[in-house]
Order: sequence, then C-alpha cells, then structure tokens
Amino acid sequence: MSAFDSDDIPTSPATQPHFNEIADAVRSRRGFLKAGLAVGAVSFMGAGLSACGGGDDDDDTPVPAPVMLGFTAVGSNSLDTVTVPTGYRSAVFCRWGDPLFPHSPAWRPDATNTADSQRLQFGDNHDGMHFFPIDGSSTEGLLVMNHEYLNDEYLYPADVTPGGTGWSLEQVRKGQYAHGVSVAHVRRVNGNWEVVIPSPYNRRIHGRTPMTITGPARGHALMRTSDDPDGHTVLGTLNNCGNGVTLWGTYLTCEENFNGYFSNLGGVTRNTNETRYGLPSGHSSYRWADFDPRFDYSTERNEPNRFGWIVEIDPFDPTSTPKKRTALGRFKHENCAMTLAANNRVVVYMGDDQANDYVYKFVSSGTYSATTPSINRDLLDSGTLYVARFDAGATTGDMMGTGVWIPLVLSTPTTTAGQTLGDLFADMGELLINTRLAADAVGATRMDRPEWVTVHPRSGEVYITMTNNSGRTTADEVNPRTSNIYGQIVRWREAGGDAAATTFEWDLFVLAGNPVVRTGLQAGSANVNADNMFNSPDGLAFDADGRLWIQTDGNFSNVGNYAGMGNNQMLVADPQTREIRRFLVGPSGCEITGITWTPDRRTMFINVQHPGEYGSHPNRPSVDPKDDALAFSQWPEAAGGRPRSATVVIWKEDGGVIGT
Ligand code: FEO
Ligand code: CA
Ligand code: CA
Repeated sequence: MSAFDSDDIPTSPATQPHFNEIADAVRSRRGFLKAGLAVGAVSFMGAGLSACGGGDDDDDTPVPAPVMLGFTAVGSNSLDTVTVPTGYRSAVFCRWGDPLFPHSPAWRPDATNTADSQRLQFGDNHDGMHFFPIDGSSTEGLLVMNHEYLNDEYLYPADVTPGGTGWSLEQVRKGQYAHGVSVAHVRRVNGNWEVVIPSPYNRRIHGRTPMTITGPARGHALMRTSDDPDGHTVLGTLNNCGNGVTLWGTYLTCEENFNGYFSNLGGVTRNTNETRYGLPSGHSSYRWADFDPRFDYSTERNEPNRFGWIVEIDPFDPTSTPKKRTALGRFKHENCAMTLAANNRVVVYMGDDQANDYVYKFVSSGTYSATTPSINRDLLDSGTLYVARFDAGATTGDMMGTGVWIPLVLSTPTTTAGQTLGDLFADMGELLINTRLAADAVGATRMDRPEWVTVHPRSGEVYITMTNNSGRTTADEVNPRTSNIYGQIVRWREAGGDAAATTFEWDLFVLAGNPVVRTGLQAGSANVNADNMFNSPDGLAFDADGRLWIQTDGNFSNVGNYAGMGNNQMLVADPQTREIRRFLVGPSGCEITGITWTPDRRTMFINVQHPGEYGSHPNRPSVDPKDDALAFSQWPEAAGGRPRSATVVIWKEDGGVIGT
C-alpha cells in the first residue's frame, strides 16, 4: 500500500488554523479606497488581519465531501479558440496592450505603439496571477499578473528586428516595459468584469522599476555595479514566470530565464557561475545590450547576479518599492508556494525550471504572527534554504520513495570527502548568488524540469510538475523515463506532517504519456487515457476544495507521439481517486498558465500566454509569421489582428462554484 493511499490524506484541519483559513482572512485586505484613506496610507507589508471565521467552529455537523469533478470533460482540439465544458462560459480580459490608466494610449494592431505607450498598458505574455479581494469581495479586487517575456514577431512592427532593421533604444525600452507585473483594480458590474480606470491601485512594474535588494546578498561585492556601487538597488524584474502569495497579503513574482537578456559583447571567458546559469557566449536574442550597456555582462559583470530572484510586491500600496528576497536563492524560479510549519515558521516551496535542476524549500527563522503584521514584514529575509534529494526508498522501481532536505549553509558537507560548502563560498551571500553550484555540490537530485508547486489545502501534501526532459539519458526512481517528452507530477509528504521537516516520503501522482501510440512507461500511468492525455504539465494549483488544476505548456502538434492531445489545455484531478479530466483547451499556439479565483470561487481567472507562437502547430503558416502579413492565430481578436496574450474569465452559467 502506498504511503499516499487516499485513506491517509487527512480531510480535516489539525488543531491549529489551517493555512487556507488564515490566508483567506489575511488576503482579504481592506481597500484604502473603501476605508477612506489616501494613496500610500497603507504601509508596506502592513496589512491588518480581518476578523477570522464565522464563530461556528465548534459545530460538529459532518460537512459533505465536495463534488470534485462535476463537469463533462472537454475533448482535445486544435482550434483557435478557448473551449470550456458545457454549462461554462468564458470571456477575454486584460489583453496585452489594454489600458491601465486614463492616459494609456490605445493598443495598435500593427504594433506601432511606442515604449511610453507600453509602459502604460498591460504587458505581454501573461503568466502567474493572483486575485486579492478588497474587503473579502468576490466582485472587486486587485488582479495582479506577471508578464514573462516577449515575442518579437508580435511585439514589434514588421520592419523592426532585434539587432537588425529599425533596432533602437526606443525598441529596447518597449521590450523592457512589456515585462514585469501589472496590478489591476478589477470589479464585476452587471455580470461583466472590467478594469477600474482611474484607480490609484493600478500600477505597472516593469524591467526598469527600481527595487530593493534584501537578505544575505544585499550589498555583497558580487551585487555591486557601476550604477549601484552599494549593491542595494536594481532596476527591474525580468522573465516573471509563476507567482506565489504570502500569508500577509503580498504578491511574489518569480524571475525565471533571466540569462537570456544578457550579451557578452566583449567575448569574456565565462566563469563557472556564468556557465552554470546559461549566460550567452555572445549576443542574446533580445539584443538589449546593443543600446543598454548594463545588459552587456562582459563590461557589467555583476548585473546578471541581480536577477534570478523572487520579488515581493505589496499590491495594496502603489508607492511601495518591490523587494528582491535573496534568502530564497538565485535560480530560474518557476513559481513558489507558501505554507506554515508546525511551529509557525513560514515555508516556501520552489522549483528551478531547467532540465536536471532542483527542487528547493525555504524555512524562515522567524515565526508568522496572525496578530502583529509588522512581525511578518521581513520574514523572507532570514532562514534556511534547502535542496531536495529524492531516494528510491525501501523498494526500487515502485515509483515511490523517501527524501531528504539538504540545508544550503556553509557547514553542510559536500559530496567531496572532508569538504563543506564553506570551502566553496566565502559567505552566505556568495552561496545564494551561486545557489545552483551549492546544490550541485551536495548531491541534490537532478529533476525533469521542476515547474509549478502547490500545497494541498488540508493535508499539506506538496505537488510539483516536472514538465519534461527529452534529453534525460539515465532514469532514476523519481524521474523514471529516459527521453521524457511527456512529464510527470511528483508529490511528497513531509515527516510528521510538518512543512519544516528535513525528511519526506514521495510518490508519482501521474506519469503523462500517450496510451494510444506508445507502450510501457511512455504510455503514461493508469490515470492517463485516450480521453484525458496531455503532455508537459506546467501550471499547477489546488483550489480550496482540494481539486488539483493542471495546465500545460507542451507540444501542440497533435501528431505522432502527441496525436490526440491537441492544443495546450487545463485539466482537473481528484488527488484521492487520481482521476484526471480535461476542463479547457486553449487557442492555437498558446500555453495555459496562471490561475486564481475570487473567494467564492464562482469566478476563475486563467491566462492564455503566447497565442500564435506557431511552433509545431498543425495549422501553422507555411512561412514565418515575421514575413507573413497575417499570423496564423488572431486570438482573441475577431479577424486580421495580431494574437495577444490575455486573461480569460471563466464562470458557470448557473453561477455555481467552478469545478462542481
Ligand atoms: Fe516560465 Fe518554466 O515556465
Ligand atoms: Ca521506491
Ligand atoms: Ca511555466
């Protein structure tokens, strides 16, 4: 019997308040508009805790188990539209280029918007996202979302090519402003969601917004640049992939593929750090260094060290300075998931999205306070970062095992006899800047591209997607396939149910695969069939009932090894029965990513990222869209336009809870 047998999953909270109960209360911060306060009157990280619960906590009346998968599955398809189940509706919201301010210029379908226009509009390539209710409302809140990267064939006019025709500082700036985070005050009026304009909450944080460096690497010699000789302030956040949210109502944006923005114009020999983090040996494809010297790391050697972090943003204070929290480590952060340890320390789970990279967790030194918010303000600046080793356990080949969290501190022994991490790094700042190298040295398990991680709302079990690893040549227990083109979802339970534990038990929740055209492990696990097959799980989140929502960013060719899978999609799983059902199919060339709900869960928001990224799509144009007057996807435009990343609002026609 598996350690993860469904009977083992607690269905009721332990004696201390459950994380989600605390989180629901804390995240419902008072809007300063409703409270009658001026902009900026809400102090950074200083949100108060609203009253908890309804006073009937002693009621022992059994609560019926929620309906977990109460919808009819959607079939796969290759259409240029969003498909949702019968009885559900969807609408497009917050497209790239849509206005956030009264003076935001209108989006131009020929991409001739200027850099200054882009700075006042929603950014591109929407990714992680969270709805922060105002005063607990399910019809008004702050929708905060990441803008991960750009597609130059769509962001720029046909006569502009990075590093080529029409390339200029103006175009570099436009790209930098397309990245980052949007904070949008949103509300539902007469059944339709709208962005509130003007609103003092609305804000663009982008590739040039000043941010403070905090934690052990603040001020470190390796963080100093000619523009910032103190190593305290960096301009911008980049490649904002997934997100997290804190117990105290702030937003965490995760910097992923930061390496791709830097060029090596002087041809310097890359050091170990630069090689391990994948800094280009020559030009980057973004070509920002052509006009913005800080992106040439051959002359500004430490600038890349100031990216690859998790950034904390207070969405309720538009005057607040975002904080790069270096204690959480530097790598290609996908998303993060916060929970509470038994002793009230906060725990943050994280993945490093690169083939053969690692799973991490941070355990704070200080403890969370539900009553004194100022105590929580800098909890993410001090603590211990751990990296995971997944062992085979008592039996080899059963796709379950045990694991160890290895602390990345100077006293930890490396796999070299007689050596500690302190022999490799002079101090914790240097270690954290070189997180990957520290993890390499202690024998962490090389994983199949860790993407989103999420914590079950009652059991505390942690689930994480391994999206794929086609280059894997040696299988192990937790990454059981060579040439892994489909991906898997791993889950673990911490020893004693304590998120701060240093050991755990794990198993595989699902091996994605194609049971129609493949055999053996490539067919997938028993919960994958012809009706629900998918590849490359990426976005992942539990809702408050414990449904596991799975979003994909994979091969959408719908042929060969991927026949029958169609476009990228979103599925829902019941963690107890392991049943998986397809809920949504995205338009052509997109990935589905980012997921959040209103507190009543009668509205869901997801993101459609990079529609029209033609790749291997069966309907792709015969010529590169850069050379084509009309891209093959126009989603979500009616006809003839460029495709645009956008949020999608989903609701039930009967007004019910999503998924039931
Ligand atoms: Fe931004 Fe690993 O996806
Ligand atoms: Ca085993
Ligand atoms: Ca992703």
